[in-house]
Amino acid sequence: MSLVLITGGLGFIGSHTCLSLLTKGLDVLIIDSLVNSSKENFLNIKNLVKNNYKPQVGKVFFLKGDLRNNKWLDEIFKKQISIDNPIDSVIHFAGLKSVEESVLNPIKYWDANINSTLSLLSSMEKFNCNSIVFSSSATIYKPVYEGRITENSLKEPINPYGNTKNTIETFLKDLYISDKKKWKIINLRYFNPVGAHESGKIGEETVGKPSNLFPILGKVISGEMENLSIFGKDWPTKDGTCVRDYIHVMDLAEAHFSALQFLKNNPTQFKSINIGTGKGYTVLEIVEKYSKLNNVDIPYKFSDRRSGDASSVVADNTLALELLNWKPQKNIEDCCVDSYRFLLNKLSKIK
Ligand code: NAD
Ligand code: WQD
Repeated sequence: MSLVLITGGLGFIGSHTCLSLLTKGLDVLIIDSLVNSSKENFLNIKNLVKNNYKPQVGKVFFLKGDLRNNKWLDEIFKKQISIDNPIDSVIHFAGLKSVEESVLNPIKYWDANINSTLSLLSSMEKFNCNSIVFSSSATIYKPVYEGRITENSLKEPINPYGNTKNTIETFLKDLYISDKKKWKIINLRYFNPVGAHESGKIGEETVGKPSNLFPILGKVISGEMENLSIFGKDWPTKDGTCVRDYIHVMDLAEAHFSALQFLKNNPTQFKSINIGTGKGYTVLEIVEKYSKLNNVDIPYKFSDRRSGDASSVVADNTLALELLNWKPQKNIEDCCVDSYRFLLNKLSKIK
């Protein structure tokens, strides 16, 4: 038997990854404090697995709690060993992710992201669980003006959120070096995750005010926001708006499954891998595609550049394609259509 611990498993990327693992027959234990998600997502995952996939699906369990509670975490690892179903690997999503909030409240971000990771890794070490896939981010790279970003591009985060991700990668490397016969570690550096599961039942929920493009499009379409402010129209790109590499969340979920398989089938190691599509789209292209494909109006206006934005952030995903036996299956159209389906589903529940 093989049990995967998924921290932050009820969040946006975590919930899609749980689904992907369960449908492949892996058992999953979710730990989530619900600071940015809700218990409803657990039911959504269970229902999706029950209704849509037959017959060999994994089992899913959920425990509510904060990773920083190390005694509690130890008890969980211990209990799993005592019932002969030890946690044999971890996917670590749990953390706070708002760039804006991290600038305003760095203590909150360093505490949440660093201390939860420290607590997790010390429990893992204590109970001999040595495989981890960590949610890192393209935000750790120094902003560039053009070209694709490789894993060797310069790392130079420009906000506290990015600093915590970079620090955790360094910490993981220290751990690996401390005993090279022990740890199996992969940092997945995500570019811009968007979209939703094709059912429209799970997707990106934001507690509080969103700052990412796709959730904001949702607010504009639902009428909660009057229009989209496009940050800058004089960037050195084809239409003057910023270019990003938007990756469908189900492709991202599959990348986690592939990363786990890679760790299982290979000796100890420490690797950092970009997860993106390698293709970039401007903000205007996204607005146009989203509104055309879904037949909705997206009023927008141009405003000043947002501080900290880069003109173009696109992944060189060669390493992921080579190592992980993984390839994105969805395109930008799927991202727009699936996001909208999730939005409609959410709005229909509110009415
Ligand atoms: P999310 O906020 O939807 O999910 C994170 C989950 O972790 C939430 O359910 C939250 O309740 C939980 N959580 C937070 N702190 C916790 C703690 N101390 N103990 C237990 N649970 C805790 O975020 P997401 O978009 O799914 O992102 C998942 C991970 O990927 C994060 O680490 C994020 O930094 C990283 N990431 C996200 C993006 C993105 O654009 N979404 C891009 C790159 C990297
Ligand atoms: C996308 C594009 C904006 C909102 C962030 C984090 C990064 C990672 C992913 C976690 C940009 C433009 C946006 C708006 C706009 N998260 N935009 N008006 O900034 O590429 O990356 O999320 O790790 O760390 O920094 O994503 O969705 O905020 O922006 O014009 O109201 O949309 O300028 O070009 P970003 P985003």
